[in-house]
Amino acid sequence: MDLFEYQARDLFAKHGVPVLAGEVIETPEAARDVTERLGGKAVVKAQVKVGGRGKAGGVKLASDPADAVEKAGQILGMDIKGHTVHKVMLAQTADIAEEYYVSFLLDRTNRTFLAMASVQGGMEIEVVAEEHPEALAKIPVDANEGCTPEKAREIVEAAKFPADVADQIAEALQKLWTVFVKEDALLVEVNPLVKSGDGKIIALDGKVSLDENADFRQPEHEALEDKAAANPLEAAAKAKNLNYVKLDGQVGIIGNGAGLVMSTLDVVAYAGEKHGGVKPANFLDIGGGASAQVMANGLEIILGDPDVKSVFVNVFGGITACDEVANGIVQALELLKSKGENVSKPLVVRLDGNNAELGRKILSDANHPLVQRVDTMDGAADKAAELAAAK
Ligand SMILES: Nc1ncnc2c1ncn2[C@@H]1O[C@H](COP(=O)(O)OP(=O)(O)O)[C@@H](O)[C@H]1O
Ligand SMILES: [Mg+2]
Repeated sequence: MDLFEYQARDLFAKHGVPVLAGEVIETPEAARDVTERLGGKAVVKAQVKVGGRGKAGGVKLASDPADAVEKAGQILGMDIKGHTVHKVMLAQTADIAEEYYVSFLLDRTNRTFLAMASVQGGMEIEVVAEEHPEALAKIPVDANEGCTPEKAREIVEAAKFPADVADQIAEALQKLWTVFVKEDALLVEVNPLVKSGDGKIIALDGKVSLDENADFRQPEHEALEDKAAANPLEAAAKAKNLNYVKLDGQVGIIGNGAGLVMSTLDVVAYAGEKHGGVKPANFLDIGGGASAQVMANGLEIILGDPDVKSVFVNVFGGITACDEVANGIVQALELLKSKGENVSKPLVVRLDGNNAELGRKILSDANHPLVQRVDTMDGAADKAAELAAAK
């Protein structure tokens, strides 16, 4: 989960990284009081989860409270690379002498953590990496050792930070590492980390991406979610603990196991080409041990998606035997009907693997008017695509 700059700044402050005071507002008029509180002038910064806000006109200096109201008015509602600005942060203005870059991230390719640092901050780091690769120091950080004082000094030396700020940057790096570890982040980036006119090191911008796999031990992170931006179907699925991703096609997909669901998306997209280009409407993995309730929850989300025209349930019985899945489907349809849901979309079900014969028999005996059995994956994908195209 990517955070807004103001949320990253809060986490920096929590762990002792030097930042400037700031407040978030959602209406231009609110800028007046905040600017007064910040000392009469402020930097007005668009809060969108995308870089390059400065270049896009989303970071503006306001010289007094009235000017801040005007600048906030210009920035709120602005579109930056497809992201609409709903919030701006007013921050104290820094007197910038130099702009640097530092980050910690997970380097998957090399199976390690990585520190990156450069004296050429402020601009996009991808450009620095491309045009002046020698100006971007990359230092692996051992997961067990972490960013020790020695490691911090190694980073400072490799990036050739000036001697007068070396100690301060080394300290900031250790605190940023604390943010990285304590908050279970995948990325902690500061661009720019500035040296002010009076020689102080301050984090002026922050980009933090949190590892959602660690949510179970980070109860405070739930409050950082941008619920307004979440797709309502994805939010409903998350509330039911379902592994669901909304896509833009017409064939609803339910399967057991992420790998099977991924390949189901492929065969449906392939089959869909013959049927006017219909595509999968979602990814939904109900996992192992899927009960009738889980099947009902999954079907409810998928049938509630107005884009869905047909549903393909693709199950390869393993630990979860096919007869349980078949019973789950039958019971789920009854459950939804008893809840008053209008179940009117055709379902194509393919069952294979453990207890497939028994599962198929259960479906045949139930003889539900909306359910069709097709026993091969390709055949079922084709049928589901055909039904979606016919709607
Ligand atoms: N509080 C501030 N005081 C003074 N200048 C700032 C402040 N915040 C940002 N800036 C300037 O604006 C530039 C862009 O801001 P930044 O927060 O890095 O946004 P982005 O990276 O999205 O463009 C910075 O490189 C810095 O020069
Ligand atoms: Mg920046």
